[in-house]
Amino acid sequence: MRVFSGIQPSGDLHVGNYLGALQQFVRAQSLDAFYCVVDLHALTLDVEPVALRERTTELAAAMVASGLDPERCTLFVQSHVSYHAQLSWLLECVAGYGELTRMTQFKEKSDRAHGVRAGLLTYPVLMAADILLYDTEEVPVGDDQRQHLELARNLAERFNNRYGNTFTVPRAVTPAAAARVMDLQQPTRKMSKSVASELGTIYLFDSPEAIARKVAKAVTDTDGEMAFDWERKPGLANLLEMFAGFTGEDPRAIAARYHRYGDLKRDLTEAMVEALAPIGERYRALREDPAQLASVLAIGAARASSVAATTYQRAADAIGLTHPT
Ligand code: TYM
Repeated sequence: MRVFSGIQPSGDLHVGNYLGALQQFVRAQSLDAFYCVVDLHALTLDVEPVALRERTTELAAAMVASGLDPERCTLFVQSHVSYHAQLSWLLECVAGYGELTRMTQFKEKSDRAHGVRAGLLTYPVLMAADILLYDTEEVPVGDDQRQHLELARNLAERFNNRYGNTFTVPRAVTPAAAARVMDLQQPTRKMSKSVASELGTIYLFDSPEAIARKVAKAVTDTDGEMAFDWERKPGLANLLEMFAGFTGEDPRAIAARYHRYGDLKRDLTEAMVEALAPIGERYRALREDPAQLASVLAIGAARASSVAATTYQRAADAIGLTHPT
């Protein structure tokens, strides 16, 4: 099964990224899985060059620390493989302006950004290129990427219809629980790397004390009724989903076990700390050996490039581009 997914180096990783994406990446890893630090995507919002470089390395280290084994899967940086940007251009000439302006994330981010970059509009096309370059069948992602995946499917089908069968049509795979982790202070808003909400966001490398404090302060409700109900009790439902994400249980079964919010919060904290502490330790060790990480990424880029080159050539031929002779 060919698997591809990516994460933007655009801010510190949080438990939403872990449960929605990284944990799935680790489960799906195989010699046929490609995982990418999508640095080109991070250019769609304002970022200092020094910070981008730093975050790219940090994210790659965090992905390995989370359990991705570079011997068992391919881990690489998007800009190291030039075909991503190249295929993106071909697909931009297949995508419609209208369908890009209708993307929810574009509408949200362009409302917040000062001086909207054209890249913010075309970003889902680059994401489609990322996926289609690897003949990807499954894309493990959080729920917020579903609409982008739909676009990737549409572009693949449109290209295939217009120019002949070229691309595999991919599908999104979201986790059973915690596909959309919400902000702990505002449980109707998604936990996000790009929105600052210190108390509402649990970062992958938060200390056990910080995790305990944030979970303890998480907004719930006042009726004290233990029930898994997103409509009536979003704060509690969010905690139950996270708990389910970390333990593999069903959120309803967890709710049935507890009577008091305080007990639930205490055990959730424990489950989180148990899962995250070893990741933090591995991360700190990896950061001490930048040469080793660089070599992992170089091997990854070479492997990814050889697959991407073939697909890109197929697409370029189909669309009518010529070769130098
Ligand atoms: P990004 O970097 O915003 O997020 C990385 C992954 O984390 C998931 N995620 C969440 N899951 C659950 N709850 C949350 N609150 C939460 N926040 C984020 C995201 O769904 C994602 O899986 N456009 C993508 C990056 C990308 C990509 C790709 C993904 C670029 N090319 C190709 C897959 C395939 C993004 O911005 O993700």
